[in-house]
Amino acid sequence: MFGWNRFHKSKPCVLLQHLATRRTSSTPPRLVLGIETSCDETGAAVLDETGRILGESLHSQKEVHLKTGGIIPTVAQRLHEENISRVVQEALDRSGVAPSELAAVATTVKPGLALSLGVGLRFAGRFVKLHDKPFIPIHHMEAHALTVRMLQRVDFPFLVLLVSGGHSLLALARGIDDFLLLGQTLDEAPGDTMDKVARRLSLIKHPKCSVLSGGQAIEVLAREGDRLKFQFRSPMGQHYDCNFSFAGVRNQVTTAIIKKEKEEGMEQGRLLSCVHDIVAGTQHTVASHTAKRTHRAILFCQARGLLPRDDPTLVVSGGVASNEYIRETLRIVTDATGLRLLCPPAKFCTDNGVMIAWNGVERLKEGKGIVSFTQDVQYEPKAPLGRDISTEVRDAQIKLPLLKLKIKN
Ligand code: KG4
Ligand code: ZN
Repeated sequence: MFGWNRFHKSKPCVLLQHLATRRTSSTPPRLVLGIETSCDETGAAVLDETGRILGESLHSQKEVHLKTGGIIPTVAQRLHEENISRVVQEALDRSGVAPSELAAVATTVKPGLALSLGVGLRFAGRFVKLHDKPFIPIHHMEAHALTVRMLQRVDFPFLVLLVSGGHSLLALARGIDDFLLLGQTLDEAPGDTMDKVARRLSLIKHPKCSVLSGGQAIEVLAREGDRLKFQFRSPMGQHYDCNFSFAGVRNQVTTAIIKKEKEEGMEQGRLLSCVHDIVAGTQHTVASHTAKRTHRAILFCQARGLLPRDDPTLVVSGGVASNEYIRETLRIVTDATGLRLLCPPAKFCTDNGVMIAWNGVERLKEGKGIVSFTQDVQYEPKAPLGRDISTEVRDAQIKLPLLKLKIKN
């Protein structure tokens, strides 16, 4: 049905451009299996090329890592190994699609934890060889950036802010494999910062937070806090670029926690009475730091004519993008600059197999990055997104106009 007879095994790792061609309106939509194992979620999904999710399955390791106080790579690897067959089988069963019906298998190969990426790649390698399928290696951050296009029409170019436990970056998406990196974190990602603050405050002991990630716990408790009680400085105020420093936020918060513990004569590991106010202040500072860097990225793109006149768009994705307070703070910036703000629903902001399958669909449609074997494909724990133009952004020295980034708690 998909012309497998033209699929030459003798030429490993050649781009299979022809897979993108010869489609007619009567041809049934092609089907892609996506597999994600780059961090602590084992995900799989089957999509058709219109973006319809036919079946999916996700196994989260978050509860295990919450108990150990962070991801231990060997534990993550073991859990991926224990679950990957079941997760992929479940996605296939739910979709009612047999492996023989798949047009391709897409799998995250970069960036991420080496041991975790290895599990997905080895599994996918065995799968595509067994079923004689083309393989599409996926860049995890590209997949995050493009997921929104599965849900609604978003034309290139658009600006994207990715904020998660492992990443924070601002990029201009110009095509499915064409990104300009405007800025990224110099130390840690905002989700990581919030997870660490939550751990330092022992939020897991709070009855409302026992099964929540650090970021979720902070969002929940901040609703009952006063962000003005602890006023942390938004870092890098004198750096007129689009890079982030969330460790700069964390250091200030830790100092305030130590001071409060001393004042209250409390040992580390117990819940402080002012915990709601501290997390409200933390969330606000993470939000305003993120919003300011994003504001500069928008002004840079507008000054250079990099965004379209019609419907210029900011897409926000990654686990932290599900934070309502952060979204609303970003909305102040997009309203002021005339951009449309798009945040996919939380389910699509966090890691899953669907986003990988969708990236596979986009590549399949354009005939880009489709390879015949996995044997030559290596995983890459570190893989920058696109072309780094952050120096150009810094050299532009864009000062931000005053904008009140304060929303109701
Ligand atoms: O995208 P994701 O599932 O995994 C990666 O890091 O790639 O993001 C997880 C991160 C965690 O650090 C978690 O604390 C944070 O996203 N997060 C949140 C919220 N929900 C998840 N941070 C702030 N507010 C939230 N509601
Ligand atoms: Zn992610």
